Amino acid sequence: MSPIKPVTKENMALAASLIQKGKLVAFPTETVYGLGADATNDLAVAAIYEAKGRPQFNPLIIHVAKTTDILTYVEWNDRAKRLAKIFWPGPLTFVLRRAKNSPIAQLASGGLDTIAVRCPNHPVAHELISLAGRPIAAPSANASGKLSPTHADHVYDSLGENVDMILDGGATSVGIESTVLDLTSDIPTILRPGGVTQESLSALLGEVYEACTMAHGDDGAPKSPGMLSSHYAPHLPIRLNALTASDDEAFVTFGPDLFIEGGAYRINLSPRGNLIEAAANLFSMLRIVDREPYKGIAVMPIPDEGLGAAINDRLRRAAAPRG
Ligand code: TXA
Ligand code: MG
Repeated sequence: MSPIKPVTKENMALAASLIQKGKLVAFPTETVYGLGADATNDLAVAAIYEAKGRPQFNPLIIHVAKTTDILTYVEWNDRAKRLAKIFWPGPLTFVLRRAKNSPIAQLASGGLDTIAVRCPNHPVAHELISLAGRPIAAPSANASGKLSPTHADHVYDSLGENVDMILDGGATSVGIESTVLDLTSDIPTILRPGGVTQESLSALLGEVYEACTMAHGDDGAPKSPGMLSSHYAPHLPIRLNALTASDDEAFVTFGPDLFIEGGAYRINLSPRGNLIEAAANLFSMLRIVDREPYKGIAVMPIPDEGLGAAINDRLRRAAAPRG
């Protein structure tokens, strides 16, 4: 049965309960359709990456329905407030520092210390966020590397049964993704051009940089979030493909604990060897072990299939020599 559903009261309530249960719901925004999940639920967020077949944990945009909602998620500042008054709801995403005790899942922000937030200008998106009572993490609802969807049918063509429900809100009006604006630096920087132009931002903010020197992938995403200065890199050295760990290392394991030996402390990404669960735990578990008294972090081999490719990509970056 097709997961495409017309926007009715019943279907909106169903969609909201699916989000609350950690399922995936595609929904219209004014830019493109988003593939939404509860942004506070690591497992639900991992399912987004799985459904899109993303080879990397590119950070996601957190969608909110009201400005008050985001006060506990990010460090809201004067510039963001001013911009929000004028451009929200609308196709402008702010990158801000993660608030202390932010409920947003580590995986949703790709392990970064910053979080991208946006208030979309679409009644269906607003109602879904409000009814679910959760912030919704949503990348464009297409398979990785494919075109962004501007129709419910495009979502189904690209993701098929990988999405639990697709709310059909007709064609989207803007058709290109939101502008991603980094507000954590002294001079605001456009990380991805989109629905709000540089001219209109400059008119309000004065100088605005465009991150044109940054390598970009097909979807306009920075190819390497590791190039961003705010990027989380573990303090401790990381050793990959470790079969055992020494007495001063923390050991991040995967799969049944039966045969695992060594390590000052052990933490398991997924005792049942499930890659979605491992992805959901990756960033939060790395943070747990990245501290004294350990001298290093040893990580067991992770199968390089499905989400394992994204996990290994991230681990290789974390283990790469630091400049
Ligand atoms: O219009 C849109 O923005 C659509 C709709 C669904 O809202 N969403 C969308 O999401 O295009 P996605 O995942 O395809 O693109 C998100 C962009 C990526 O370029 C990502 O690198 C950037 O936002 N981004 C997200 N969080 C970030 C962060 N903390 N720091 C820097 N860039 C971030
Ligand atoms: Mg995209």
